[in-house]
Amino acid sequence: MAEKPEYIPGLAGVPAARSSICLIDGSVGKLQYRGYPIEALAEHCTYEETVFLLHHGKLPSAAELEAFSASLAAERTLKFRIIDLLKNLPESGHPMDALTAAVAGLGMFYPGDHVEDLDFRGLTAVRLVAKLPTIVAAWHRIRRGDEPIAPRSDLGHAENFLYMLEGEEPDALTAKVMDVALTLHAEHSMNASTFTARVTGSTLSDPYAAVASAIGSLAGPLHGGANERVLTMLRTIEDPTTENIRRWAENRLARKEKIMGFGHRVYKAKDPRANVLQKLATQLFEERGRSPIYDVAVELETQMDQLVGHKGIYPNVDFYSGIVYEKMGIPVDLFTPVFAIARVGGWLAHLLEQLEGNRIFRPSQEYIGERDLELKPISER
Ligand code: SDX
Repeated sequence: MAEKPEYIPGLAGVPAARSSICLIDGSVGKLQYRGYPIEALAEHCTYEETVFLLHHGKLPSAAELEAFSASLAAERTLKFRIIDLLKNLPESGHPMDALTAAVAGLGMFYPGDHVEDLDFRGLTAVRLVAKLPTIVAAWHRIRRGDEPIAPRSDLGHAENFLYMLEGEEPDALTAKVMDVALTLHAEHSMNASTFTARVTGSTLSDPYAAVASAIGSLAGPLHGGANERVLTMLRTIEDPTTENIRRWAENRLARKEKIMGFGHRVYKAKDPRANVLQKLATQLFEERGRSPIYDVAVELETQMDQLVGHKGIYPNVDFYSGIVYEKMGIPVDLFTPVFAIARVGGWLAHLLEQLEGNRIFRPSQEYIGERDLELKPISER
């Protein structure tokens, strides 16, 4: 009889799928999308090219990229009822909850009972990648009493998102930094939110429901929600001298409190995306002046390396992303939604792959509860 698989907490290291989308070698901090190193993609490709690569398995030709970008731009607008839905949500609510609600609502306009239809899948993938930025930008304006700004089809994906936030076209550097950040966050193999998307999609539930469930998973502070917490955490370090930063880190570690932006289930070296984000930060500083918080972050990285580097705890993608976003004028509580509008590309790549050779996820468990008890009627309990 086959050996019964043992229970592994958090399925750490347990393969949940066979995939050709993303390779991570955590021991050396290697990340590749469809075989291309993340550093090369960040330097040479736009987010649109990256999503095409993730969804189609190859980089687009110029003509293919033009057609794909046009298909995305054509799908950026939202039904007015989705805008109305956003206008009826509590403005004090978190943007990730607004995003979940709107994406779930989107599915009602496009009944998902065609998920086994390849054309429907492809169009839905384009629609979701195209519409998430519009939802995030619309929510940001609605919650402060402003009308949403309609998307423009003549701007790139990242550029248009920034335009919809404040109604101004971003300068070239800001648009480029946003585009690279979206590429860096687009995909990361079997992370919690991607696994969530695959599980929901494996029941043949529609892609809108799969993405809505993935957004809920990403929102957690141990996952995508960490980027929003890093800046707040860094600012709690009073008088951030080297000694005080060291002492702060030692105290948090001694109390077994997680330090946001550090550690990773797979990387036991520095997250390669953190390196690219640091370069983006310094590019922004050259034009706009240095953020003092960056120096605190770099010093904390140095201290953490001495304290827990031996345990494989290094900065992850979330540690420097917030410093970049804040320098670009993005509000802190939109940091995780920005992660979502990037990662939707990866979620859909995995959903499309899951549906090719689908089998519904249904893992087992190790039962450790009571068994075969005699039930006493309430009069006797
Ligand atoms: C993302 O999976 C992905 O790919 C995710 C992601 C993606 O692109 O999709 O890369 C994006 O989610 C990055 C991670 C963002 N989260 C954070 O920054 C939150 C802080 N990080 C930790 O919560 C933690 O590192 C996790 C959740 C990221 C990983 O947790 P694991 O693999 O379950 O590790 P663990 O909690 O079992 O910790 C192992 C040891 C423990 O110490 P001991 O009990 O063995 O003594 O390392 C310690 C932990 O206390 N540890 C930390 C720590 N991370 C691990 N201690 C302090 N601060 C931390 N951040």
